[in-house]
Amino acid sequence: MTTVTRSVDAVITADPSASCDTDLAASPWVFDLTPGYGPGASENDVIPDPVVRPGQLPVDYQRMPDEELHARIRAAKETLGDRLVILGHFYQRDEVVQYADFVGDSFQLANAALTRPEAETIVFCGVHFMAETADILARPEQHVILPNLAAGCSMADMADEESVEAAWEELMELYADEEGDLASVIPVTYMNSSAALKAFCGRHGGIVCTSSNAATVLEWAFERGRRVLFFPDQHLGRNTGKAMGVPLEQMPMINPRKPGLGVEPQELMDARVLLWPGFCSVHKRFTVAQIDQARAQYPGVKVIVHPESPMPVVDAADAAGSTDAIRKFVAASAPGDVIAIGTEINLVNRLAAEHPDRTIFCLDPVICPCSTMYRIHPGYLAWTLDGLVEGEVRNEIVVADDVATDAKVALERMLAALPKD
Ligand code: 13P
Ligand code: SF4
Repeated sequence: MTTVTRSVDAVITADPSASCDTDLAASPWVFDLTPGYGPGASENDVIPDPVVRPGQLPVDYQRMPDEELHARIRAAKETLGDRLVILGHFYQRDEVVQYADFVGDSFQLANAALTRPEAETIVFCGVHFMAETADILARPEQHVILPNLAAGCSMADMADEESVEAAWEELMELYADEEGDLASVIPVTYMNSSAALKAFCGRHGGIVCTSSNAATVLEWAFERGRRVLFFPDQHLGRNTGKAMGVPLEQMPMINPRKPGLGVEPQELMDARVLLWPGFCSVHKRFTVAQIDQARAQYPGVKVIVHPESPMPVVDAADAAGSTDAIRKFVAASAPGDVIAIGTEINLVNRLAAEHPDRTIFCLDPVICPCSTMYRIHPGYLAWTLDGLVEGEVRNEIVVADDVATDAKVALERMLAALPKD
């Protein structure tokens, strides 16, 4: 088990002004009621009733001292043994990730969900779309739990099924006269999207990608279609297309709220990658000025960023890659190296703690955790695990069968599209 050495929670609580949002320092039960964070849920999710709504963690768990919460988590893990598997994303806070049986990026965790078919329950310490994916890929008898139902992803919320369907219909009308073996458009959804959008891709000959296999997925799509409709993350779409040699003028960003999608018809005809206007609020904070500053302060610094960062930032960095690619980049560096990283702070601090002989820091001087992932507090983990010990499945994520069937088609295509390195 990892020892918690540098908790972001402790830093934020000690000095709220050091973080991107002083609300983060509030007690988690207050923070969970802060408006402005969508649940990231698929409209078609069947949420069991009764369900504890975000922020309604039973009051005895809210008041429990940290030591007791951790003792309960350890005891429940011990009792449940192989009946339980806990998955943790790299961005999860250390207080929680220390209990994960698998820690990884989105692609690895989707695979990890498949490696323990004997487990009765998968507890996903990540965000909603990750738990939905695990539910779609898991055996029907397996339960998937998201300890706090408010742990969504603001980027995933930026593309809803209705808007994507409407944009798709406009495009189909525009491209109706095209002939030939290739489809006019292949829909590609980033993993960070609702199950409903994954199902949309499954129904329309499309595929899911993660940040680690986006290039393989775009190649797959271009073997089958003239163009790609990529949602929700404009930056991952643009950065991946650009690295594959697609000219910027052939990657227009559509506006689903505007007539004609806000793009000249000829531009839509000439397009290779149609970008959706979504973004990640953590990664959009990284700037070229931060990279310039790091290079001025540490000549020879190596800069690596996540491809959800804006294109000029990816261009100015030495490398770009998924959370696991960032981990590997650091592991392959030499003692004494200085590495500036453009991704979520929990991962950066963990890598710094694991490599004390290197200077590793986040490009963003302000502490900005993924505020939705941050909602998985040990209190929720303890409460859901105690429930399992008592025979009750709390905060279960259940994707409706019809959605899951179509989404699985797109996810299985994704699992076959291996990352390039
Ligand atoms: P990875 O697929 O690189 O783990 O990224 C997931 C994510 O949400 C990044 O913001
Ligand atoms: Fe979503 Fe950004 Fe958080 Fe990733 S870091 S889960 S994209 S909000």
